[in-house]
Amino acid sequence: MNSFRFAFLVGVVTVVAYVGCNPDVGSSGTTGEVGGTGSAEYTIGMSQCNLNEPWRVQMNADINNAAKGHPEIDVVFKNAQNDSLKQRAHVEEFVSDGVDLIIISPKEAQPLTEPVANAVAAGIPVIVLDRAVLGDQYTCFIGADNKKIGRAAGEWIKKALGGKGKVVELKGLMTSTPGQDRHAGFRDAIAGSDIEIVFEADMKWLEPNARSEMESALTRLDHIDLVYAHNDPGAHGAYLAARSSGREKEIKFVGIDALPQEGQIYVGRGILDATFLYPTGGQEAIDAALKILAGEEVPKNVTLGSRLFTKQNIKSGGEVIE
Ligand code: FRU
Repeated sequence: MNSFRFAFLVGVVTVVAYVGCNPDVGSSGTTGEVGGTGSAEYTIGMSQCNLNEPWRVQMNADINNAAKGHPEIDVVFKNAQNDSLKQRAHVEEFVSDGVDLIIISPKEAQPLTEPVANAVAAGIPVIVLDRAVLGDQYTCFIGADNKKIGRAAGEWIKKALGGKGKVVELKGLMTSTPGQDRHAGFRDAIAGSDIEIVFEADMKWLEPNARSEMESALTRLDHIDLVYAHNDPGAHGAYLAARSSGREKEIKFVGIDALPQEGQIYVGRGILDATFLYPTGGQEAIDAALKILAGEEVPKNVTLGSRLFTKQNIKSGGEVIE
């Protein structure tokens, strides 16, 4: 074997071993997610809070795809595996490695506020995606308006139930801003109606938690009209619990995310009655990063739109939330 072929083989083996063993590597496991070639002009550090939900895998894929057309940037991905302390450490590592820009989708607002502010103070621009941090020590926030989505869900539910009924609310992690906002918007919308929240629990965005919370709700309550879950994995977990006790047909299920490969399929199959699009913002984050790296101004806050998907409108691509 000539020395070039040997070096190539060693390289391949090293990459395969790294992708196989490194917990920081995204579940799609591409070498781009390990950290690119190192030959680009700029390195962007992307701190993802976890990769267990399809939505976050999609966010990383959207970032990867958007970055692909720009050889001047390399994106290095880190996965904090749903651990805020680990995510803090990842941001600090990006700062000490001297990356040119950080993108972060933080698990929780409070614990990630300080490391983000420290990165900005060290002269590294930070784009915060989807879940916010506290205060204004970041360069740009990109995400949909979760209060508005929660309010739209509340309005849809009011209509679907004729203004009256017994509802279970399965909340996203309440130390994260989307959980707080999807709750507040929903409660605003149903205030003054005859909708009664008969059970509520923090399922922390996770399908298995939603399933076991729903099992408790079903044991305690013999009548439930609808489940409002703050994300589609939560709504699906609740549906599975209802199905295993033979009660799924008497309950409506509403979620948020509306990925084509997840929530939209659930709606198409009649598992969910409605879901609201929560865009990942991956493409927009790369657009903003390129501008910042080129020395251009970007808005402090970029608000992304949402859409409602139901069985009636799914074939025509849902409808815009006003
Ligand atoms: C994935 C997820 C999504 C949700 C978003 C909120 O981790 O739970 O399902 O819409 O995070 O930040």
